[in-house]
Amino acid sequence: MVDVIPAILVKSREEFESRIASIRPAAKTLHIDIMDGKFVPNATLQPKDMPPTGKFAVEYHLMVQNPLEYVKMIGRKDATYEIHVEALSDIDGAISQIRKMGAKIILAISPDTPAEKIMPYLKKIDGVLVMFVYPGFSGQKYISAMEEKVRAIRKAAPKLRIEIDGGVGLQNAKSAVGAGASVLNVASAIFAAKNPIAAIEEIKKEAGA
Ligand code: DX5
Ligand code: ZN
Repeated sequence: MVDVIPAILVKSREEFESRIASIRPAAKTLHIDIMDGKFVPNATLQPKDMPPTGKFAVEYHLMVQNPLEYVKMIGRKDATYEIHVEALSDIDGAISQIRKMGAKIILAISPDTPAEKIMPYLKKIDGVLVMFVYPGFSGQKYISAMEEKVRAIRKAAPKLRIEIDGGVGLQNAKSAVGAGASVLNVASAIFAAKNPIAAIEEIKKEAGA
């Protein structure tokens, strides 16, 4: 089963609310981008200022220097935390801390981080997030060479949740899924479209979801 998840990268509460309202019936899960202006050269709306997410399942993509502090700050055990290995000195420690709170953990890798870095953890985590752009901004170009990484991870873990993020849209959904991606996180191709709900449905169809 493939899923297409809207990625919410915003700087204000109003924008957050209007994006959610524009896709509400077409999505069950939200990918919420959080940046601190340090781990990446951009900052987003911070967790304390975010409106409630209601019935949506939520995945917090933490592009911050101290992801575990953000996990504590958010404090939701019904969430999935997507943590960059580049921001961790103790990957096993992070996995057990999040497990202990009863939440889910996905390890994220930026384009320069090889798949090997997360291979030892595949059995201990709920999924991986392979970045197809350098984290920081929406609207960047899909780096198709990252499909090789997805392929390698899929080979090692046939059933794992493999998410991809960055530059995903109609033009590459099929090849991403062919490489082994099971979740496509998408911002521009949904929110820059005239009809975001129709855009989600089209990408899903293209992805074979
Ligand atoms: C990039 C973010 C992505 C981004 C996706 O740093 O993590 O989730 O919002 O945006 P698009 O789909 O426009 O590349
Ligand atoms: Zn993201």
